[in-house]
Amino acid sequence: MLRRVLLAASASPRLRQLITTAPATRAIVDSYVAGETAADAVRVTRALRAAGLLVSLDYLGEDTKEQAQATAVTDEYVHLLGQLGAEGLAQGGAAEVSVKPTAVGLFLDASTAAGNIARICAAAAEAGTTVTLDAEEYAAIEPTLQIAAKLRAEHPDLGCVVQASLRRAEADCRALAAHGVRVRLCKGAYSEPESVAFTARREVDQSYARCLRALMNGPGYPMLATHDPRLIQITGSLAHLTGRAPDSFEYQMLYGIRPAEQRRLANAGARMRVYVPYGGDWYAYLVRRLAERPANLAFFLRSLGRNS
Ligand code: FDA
Repeated sequence: MLRRVLLAASASPRLRQLITTAPATRAIVDSYVAGETAADAVRVTRALRAAGLLVSLDYLGEDTKEQAQATAVTDEYVHLLGQLGAEGLAQGGAAEVSVKPTAVGLFLDASTAAGNIARICAAAAEAGTTVTLDAEEYAAIEPTLQIAAKLRAEHPDLGCVVQASLRRAEADCRALAAHGVRVRLCKGAYSEPESVAFTARREVDQSYARCLRALMNGPGYPMLATHDPRLIQITGSLAHLTGRAPDSFEYQMLYGIRPAEQRRLANAGARMRVYVPYGGDWYAYLVRRLAERPANLAFFLRSLGRNS
């Protein structure tokens, strides 16, 4: 409930002003975001790789309203991939990129976004790595999957994301797994209506478990993006039951969340990828992180009180 209220309120310019200018915000942003520049992203990637972790880098930003901005975001990804390639960090998909289709123009028009994503895929291939398309609000889901399906003819390793909170999730997993696609499964960070989404936590978790089974039993490459201890445990059991080799699927978590668990899984021989956002446009990302954990929000509100 609180989560839905905060996500809805986040569109308010006053709340945006309050959060982005509060002195307490910087420390929280720093715990979730790698820095502002590609150099920061590369520095954090180097450290994570040294600890045996895989990486997916996200240049923060979404819902781009102008062509020039969509092109600038695409240029940033191409630049970043060049840097990762030059340092040998991208080799074999060790560090890849995650792209929000609306950041590269999905809501301007789908062909702009498809062209920009194709450019990023080409740069990734050149660097020896892959691209994953994030899942955003409901209106973006179908066009994103259509772009991914089209581009996969040339870039078969283009990954996509399924949000278990959506009622369509299990069907999407079955369809995607059948084509041997790289599929990231997450719970879903957006607030959607009952008509298209499960809104109770328990229903979302049950949907995640069903999707997980579909992906682990299929011929694709599952990427299980969650910090939930129960779902991580179920993934391990399913890998055992289905006889999946440790290199035939991966765990994924967000930068700054449960880092000890990230290292534990990597040390146990699992493929463990950390999703690392960077850039100056962190507001929407931060609000989603605050909204999914009441303890974070309470901490943030207390710090606001102390500093005001
Ligand atoms: P849940 O929210 O139930 O949390 C389980 C436990 O994890 C908590 O009890 C706590 O210990 C810890 N935890 C979770 N969130 C935390 C936080 N913010 N701070 C501190 N601890 C926290 N969503 C989306 O809609 N589209 C996408 O493309 C992606 N992409 C994506 C990539 C990757 C690699 C990850 C890990 C997640 C995403 N997400 C996403 C976000 C996802 O949908 C979801 O909102 C968060 O991962 C939180 O859900 P959990 O599965 O962790 O469970």
